[in-house]
Amino acid sequence: MKKLIIINGPNLNLLGKREPNIYGSLTFTEFLEEIVGKYPDASIEYFQSNIEGELIDKLQEVGFTYDGIVLNAAAYTHTSVGIGDAIKAIETPVIEVHISNTFGREEFRHQSFISPNAKGVILGFGLQSYELAIQSFL
Ligand code: DQA
Repeated sequence: MKKLIIINGPNLNLLGKREPNIYGSLTFTEFLEEIVGKYPDASIEYFQSNIEGELIDKLQEVGFTYDGIVLNAAAYTHTSVGIGDAIKAIETPVIEVHISNTFGREEFRHQSFISPNAKGVILGFGLQSYELAIQSFL
């Protein structure tokens, strides 16, 4: 069984309430339930934090034993050298995902410290971005 984890960064705990015109009205818990039920042959864990160091700790913790990491580092995508370095340091492949098409938004969202070190990048498909990333590991 493939061991996968979805890691969400800051403010993604507010999905469903936060700017629903951009991020949709489904909560992540509802979405996760659906995904876990749909792919019973994979173990899909979930971790969310608003704190940069906690995201780095989690990447280090899972990054030598898990088969895949689906990472939406949210705003830290555009600022965090530390998360970029953590991805370089670990062995488990990371797929960077975003709900919105960050290239269609403000200029500062066009920069990513994750992309150069990711196995791939999926963005702009709403919550389906996560599912496409999961499928790519199966
Ligand atoms: C996001 C895009 C980021 O620019 C933003 O800071 C987020 C969410 C997305 O999933 O579309 O918090 O990562």
